[in-house]
Amino acid sequence: MLGLDSCPAERGEAEHESTDFLEPTIETTAPDLWLTHDGVGLGPLRVDLAETYWRWENSLPVMAGYARQTPESLTERTAGLEAQLEGSADQTRFTIYRHHDDTWAPVGMTSLLTDDRYRTGEFFIYIGEPDHRGHGTGTIATTMILDWAFHVTALRCVYLEVLANNTAAIRAYEKAGFGTVGTRRRTGSWFGQPADEVIMDAIPEEYTGPRLVEAAVLGNRQSRR
Ligand SMILES: CC(C)(COP(=O)(O)OP(=O)(O)OC[C@H]1O[C@@H](n2cnc3c(N)ncnc32)[C@H](O)[C@@H]1OP(=O)(O)O)[C@@H](O)C(=O)NCCC(=O)NCCS
Repeated sequence: MLGLDSCPAERGEAEHESTDFLEPTIETTAPDLWLTHDGVGLGPLRVDLAETYWRWENSLPVMAGYARQTPESLTERTAGLEAQLEGSADQTRFTIYRHHDDTWAPVGMTSLLTDDRYRTGEFFIYIGEPDHRGHGTGTIATTMILDWAFHVTALRCVYLEVLANNTAAIRAYEKAGFGTVGTRRRTGSWFGQPADEVIMDAIPEEYTGPRLVEAAVLGNRQSRR
């Protein structure tokens, strides 16, 4: 299973005398958003969120969801973010935002790692802010990623692996349009025990979600489809 080392962030220096970085990120200016739908926004990865990504990815619910066994240092995460910010040719990564109290708050991250030879992409997601899990954000963001994958990145198939025990994730993926194609046995770990992994995929011919990309490009003009 590909872990969260594929999902990291950046920052200028690494010293930390205070614990201010453990606080949720408060936005003071409106973030750049590429796509919005139903109170969920997708925007670019941000250097200034390096510590936030690190905090999210090293929280136990996210570590458990990715069967990650060792926490990552902020130094490693910072280096990882630098690589991610320079690897846009085969990586599409978004900060996920949720709109509430008249602001867009960063709440998680989602990624598509593409294989140009076959026009496929592996999908990853987490909602890092605990209060924002279980309120539909993951489902909406997953739908938005599929729209982007098929109508911007021109992928022929998007796939993922998820621990069979991760019922909330599987439910969110199903609602967003992924279908199960198989199970790999005992290739994962759940609370230290061997766990199966479910393989899911989605193809553009079966996509029935909202055409957000098309609407963003064409606006009120008639679609040419
Ligand atoms: C998986 C994750 C991205 C889903 O995002 P989310 O915003 O919490 O999910 P949603 O609220 O959109 O949907 C969750 C669905 O699972 C359901 N659900 C939640 N807990 C469940 C459980 N224990 N059993 C069954 N269904 C469950 C919810 O009821 C909801 O379905 P519903 O809308 O039909 O009621 C998020 O929970 C997360 O980041 N988890 C930690 C990291 C992780 O596991 N990432 C995925 C690794 S593959």
